[in-house]
Amino acid sequence: MKILVINGPNLNMLGKREPEIYGVKTLDDLDRFCYSVGKKAGAKVDSVQSNHEGEIIDEIQNALARYDGIVINAGGYTHTSVSILDALKAVAIPTVEVHLSDVKEREEFRKFSYISLYAEKVIIGKGFEGYAEAIEYLVDKYKK
Ligand code: DQA
Repeated sequence: MKILVINGPNLNMLGKREPEIYGVKTLDDLDRFCYSVGKKAGAKVDSVQSNHEGEIIDEIQNALARYDGIVINAGGYTHTSVSILDALKAVAIPTVEVHLSDVKEREEFRKFSYISLYAEKVIIGKGFEGYAEAIEYLVDKYKK
């Protein structure tokens, strides 16, 4: 089983970016964490990060027939991108949406997510652990 983890804009700044909200660990740490969770659960995890909406859409389209699950943290595009939603719908791969922070407890504009209109599960406010839950959920679903 193969899972693609997609991190969107500014998540390459993890460790430096608003550490009081996002913590002090880096994107490399997150990637390593996701691979090891995947390995334990029996899935091969690949991860990509992009600051560009079109590149994220390309990654989703390229996932078709190559990945059995997607974990996506679309960063700020979560709240703005109809096109990322459309790409997810187009490939119809089981998808879990993750946010490091608790977007429901922050600014009003973070409460709405286009991604949630497709994602079958949404995990917020659990930091890296949210990615582990997402990977484990997708593996369990695949095994059933
Ligand atoms: C985020 C929350 C978004 O609102 C924000 O734009 C991000 C990160 C999170 O992981 O908590 O870039 O997706």
